[in-house]
Amino acid sequence: MKRISVAIDGPSGAGKSTIARAAAKTLGFLYVDTGALYRAIGLAVCRRGYDAFDRQEVISVLPDIQVELRYLLDMQRVYLNGEDVSELIRTPQIAQFASRVSSVQEVRDFLLGIQRDMAAKNSVVMDGRDIGTVILPQADVKIFLTASAEKRAERRCAELREKGQDVELGQVLADMARRDSLDAGRAVAPLRQAPDAVLLDTSDLTLEESIDAVLRIIRKAQDV
Ligand code: DC
Repeated sequence: MKRISVAIDGPSGAGKSTIARAAAKTLGFLYVDTGALYRAIGLAVCRRGYDAFDRQEVISVLPDIQVELRYLLDMQRVYLNGEDVSELIRTPQIAQFASRVSSVQEVRDFLLGIQRDMAAKNSVVMDGRDIGTVILPQADVKIFLTASAEKRAERRCAELREKGQDVELGQVLADMARRDSLDAGRAVAPLRQAPDAVLLDTSDLTLEESIDAVLRIIRKAQDV
């Protein structure tokens, strides 16, 4: 059977992971959250006490680490040198580290194979920043998912609070703006919409409406 790749890119907080996971489940595809890979490297750099803005320090960590994705009961888990770090990477601090290390070309090269391998072996819905532009330029379907900065910050805030983190909307909005400008402004694989991607703005859509819209785009393109 032909393997199908769906690339979903967009800024943080646009609802990519929730929407992509739900779409993957409906279609019976594997959901691949590529941000977790950058977060795992961010965690490794943070644990060393290194400065994530220092390219050489970041690069020096790479030969000593192994990053892996495994699936337990259909849930993606990320492993750093054999340790399951799936929860540890979900903090605002590691998000900032991830954003910084992700601007280093060597880090992106280090993670390229894992991502392409997942798509070569499975039908996937893969979310990230450069999936449609760099990782899977031949993806069968490409979607660029976005929403206004305010809506994205509100959603991220609610998500973190649900996880028991004590966060404040203004701070989340500021963190998000900083991360957005790093992700979009970097020289290496900046966040941008692939020319052949379908743009979907979820600012005024509920989660269910967003999932339906994504499924419609995929089915229309793919007849799956
Ligand atoms: O999606 P996320 O918030 O878990 O991503 C964490 C960081 O990793 C984000 O700031 C940008 C970076 N990233 C990237 O550069 N390329 C990807 N494909 C996924 C994430």
